Amino acid sequence: MLQLSGIKKSFGNIEVLHGVDLSVQAGEVHALLGENGAGKSTLTKILCGILKPSAGEIRINGEPRQFSDYNEAIGAGIGVVFQEFSLVPYLNAVENMFLAREVKNRLGFLKHAAMRRRAEAIMRQLGVTIALDVPIRHLSVAEQQFVEIAKALALDARILVLDEPTATLTPAEVGHLFQVMRSLRSKGVSIIFISHHLEEIFQICDRVTVLRDGAYVSSCAVSEVDQPRLVEMMVGHRIESSFPPNPLFLPMPGLSFTWKRFSWQKAVRSQASACGLARYSVLRALSDRDEQKLYFRCWERIGRPAASCR
Ligand SMILES: Nc1ncnc2c1ncn2[C@@H]1O[C@H](COP(=O)(O)OP(=O)(O)OP(=O)(O)O)[C@@H](O)[C@H]1O
Ligand SMILES: [Mg+2]
Repeated sequence: MLQLSGIKKSFGNIEVLHGVDLSVQAGEVHALLGENGAGKSTLTKILCGILKPSAGEIRINGEPRQFSDYNEAIGAGIGVVFQEFSLVPYLNAVENMFLAREVKNRLGFLKHAAMRRRAEAIMRQLGVTIALDVPIRHLSVAEQQFVEIAKALALDARILVLDEPTATLTPAEVGHLFQVMRSLRSKGVSIIFISHHLEEIFQICDRVTVLRDGAYVSSCAVSEVDQPRLVEMMVGHRIESSFPPNPLFLPMPGLSFTWKRFSWQKAVRSQASACGLARYSVLRALSDRDEQKLYFRCWERIGRPAASCR
C-alpha cells in the first residue's frame, strides 16, 4: 500500500534521515518508534509533502508519488494528526476541522449544518463531548488534541498518520481513540502510529518500524518482540530496567496528570519531587546515555504548583 524507500533528509549540511525505509500494508496499524530526535516527525512530514526529501522514493499502491504540499497529499488520501497542533486558536472546532476544505453547495455557499453534523458524528465516534461553537483556544489541551484528531478523520484518509496523538489523553480517551483506529483498520485504512508509550504499541499496533538517530533499524511484527527488545532496538543497547511502568497507576489521589515535554534534567527533578526517589533513579538510568529530551508523564496538583507535592 505505502512504501517509503531510502528516504534521506538534510537541513543545511546536516543529514537527519539517512536512507529510511517504511512499508505499511492496507488495514495495518504500523508503529513508528524511536527516541526523541530519531526522525519520526521528519519522515511523516516528508510523506505528507510538508518537507521535501533529499533522496528516496514514496510509492502508494506501487505508483511513485511526490507531493509539493500537504493539500496534494490529502488529495492522494493521506491525513495527518501533527505532533505540533495545526489549529487556528480563534476558530471553533468545526471551522478548524473544515478549514480550507469547507463543504459548499452548488452556489458556493457554506453548508454550516452539514459540517456541524459531520463534526458531531466524528466526536461521537471518538466518544467525546466538546463545545463546538467556542474558539478552540478556550478548550483544554486534551480537547484540542481531539479536534486535531477529528480534523484528520474528517479527511476520510486511506493513510492516516498519528504523530503522538495520545500524549495529552487520559486512558479512557486513549481507549476511544483505539476503538476508532480499530474500526478504520477494519475498513482497510493504513495507520502510522507514533507514541513513546511502548505499552500502547502492544495494545494497538500490528507491525513496528524502529528508527535510531535518523537511521532505519528494523521492521517486524509486534508479536515477534517484547518491550525490552524494542527499547534495545531504539537505543542500540540493552537497558535492564526497561522503561518505567505506566505512572498512571501510581497511587496519587487528588493529583491530575498532564503530559509535558521537558529537558530531562528538569523532568527528573519534577518527577522526583512528585513521585519520590525510586522514580528518580529509574529516570536517571534511562537518561544516562545522553541528554536528549524524554517524554513522560508528570503530575501537578490541580491549581497548585507541583512543588507542593514534596
Ligand atoms: N526544521 C528543522 N531544521 C533543522 N533540524 C531539524 C528540523 N526539524 C527537525 N530537525 C532535526 O531533525 C532530527 C529529527 O527530528 P524529528 O522531529 O523528526 O524527531 P522525532 O523522532 O519526531 O522526535 P520526537 O520524539 O522528539 O518528536 C532532530 O535532530 C531535529 O533536531
Ligand atoms: Mg516528533
